[in-house]
Amino acid sequence: MSKRAATVFVCQECGAQSAKWLGRCPDCGAWNSLVEERPVETPLAAGTHRYASGSQASTAQLYADIALEHHARLTTGIDEFDRVLGGGIVPGSLILLGGEPGIGKSTLLLQAAANMARTIGPVLYCSGEESEHQIKGRGERLAVGDAPLYLLAETCLERILEEIARIRPSLVVVDSIQTVFSLKFQSAPGSIGQVREAATQLLFMAKNQNIPTLLVGHVTKDGSLAGPKALEHVVDTVLYFEGERHHAHRVVRAVKNRFGAVSELGVFEMTGGGLRPVANPSKMFLAERPVNAPGSAVLCTVEGSRPILVEVQALVSTSNYGSARRTANGIDPQRLSLLLAVLEKRAGLNLVGDDVFVNIAGGMTIDEPAADLGIIAAIVSSVRNRVIPATTAMFGEVGLAGEIRAIAKSSLRVREAVQMGFTRCLVPEANVDPALRSERCELVQVRTIGEAIDALLS
Ligand code: TYD
Ligand code: MG
Repeated sequence: MSKRAATVFVCQECGAQSAKWLGRCPDCGAWNSLVEERPVETPLAAGTHRYASGSQASTAQLYADIALEHHARLTTGIDEFDRVLGGGIVPGSLILLGGEPGIGKSTLLLQAAANMARTIGPVLYCSGEESEHQIKGRGERLAVGDAPLYLLAETCLERILEEIARIRPSLVVVDSIQTVFSLKFQSAPGSIGQVREAATQLLFMAKNQNIPTLLVGHVTKDGSLAGPKALEHVVDTVLYFEGERHHAHRVVRAVKNRFGAVSELGVFEMTGGGLRPVANPSKMFLAERPVNAPGSAVLCTVEGSRPILVEVQALVSTSNYGSARRTANGIDPQRLSLLLAVLEKRAGLNLVGDDVFVNIAGGMTIDEPAADLGIIAAIVSSVRNRVIPATTAMFGEVGLAGEIRAIAKSSLRVREAVQMGFTRCLVPEANVDPALRSERCELVQVRTIGEAIDALLS
């Protein structure tokens, strides 16, 4: 009896499999996400493994016998990009760069590819989205010049691997992984099976031939990578490109890095000549700060190893509609609700009939509790219509009892505030130690939100 080719339906959101088509994925609950996928079976010779090609058979080694490897990093020629990568690209690593369309992924990678072609040798840039001419058009703006950069407009994985074998590049860029398809699968490019196969094959290529590989990944509407979990597990490093298209600045964040710290941040500015690293982000984020405006506060946040001063703005106004609105941009809305509740209960503010809008200026996103004090200060400043002095910065976590709690890396934050010319800094009491003191900046220790409000607005 001949065996029917097994067809499975795979959820494109979570990768769950089902024998028949379903309107809703029983695992993750996504609607209309199941797609038919049918692998083309290739008979394997006895004893071989599909993925074992190219590598010599491996045997287990004793821990003590393994030499410690110091990863020599390859620099991309772009400081901020090197910084998020943890100091440059590790040879043989597979890196995924995700982000919304039009944010600048292709621009950044083309710049890095051109720089690296000049320093470490030929680079292969494969694009499934643009023709060679389109890429060249962009390259002219980025001054690629005569760097040994090979362009390949190709979406077939097997063809890409052939070209890699022919050119033997020092770096490969695949823009984007969702356009690549393998002849081994019949499902459409971008389906979870194809994406997983392409990423896995490229991973083996990168490891076996020690060629660092950068992949571009598209994000879905809710902001996660398409074919998400499958991809993030395969690669060594996951970077996300953030920012608003209406702003010139862009932030690249590491969310997973097998070779470095996560939550490291690179800041760029989109210019007519490509992405330009921003060496002093605090200066950029504070550049448009209004003078003498109530509802504006400056807080010190730390991203990875880097302190950044940002402005938080709040607007509290009487609600004219049935229910009051709470809008948070750049901070977690849940956190905002919590802080408002603390303000009502512990500082006696009555905000029930008010709309509250909070925004981190410049489109930054902050998710550390050290921002609490700044957010509260901006809200109170707006409610009381009183200005916080422009030379005051602050940081601290707010607890449910209205206490200001200590946070990590306080000396980094104070130093940055001093460097940016701030003369007064509100600091949680437990964070004040003599080493922090500086004659150029007065440190005001605060224990409760009441004390903080008095210190700011009196
Ligand atoms: P792109 O890298 O194509 O985005 P992605 O690959 O993430 O989809 O960048 C797109 C935007 O960047 C586009 O709107 C034009 C702008 N841009 C500049 O402002 N300056 C430049 O030098 C380049 C190359 C692009
Ligand atoms: Mg692109």
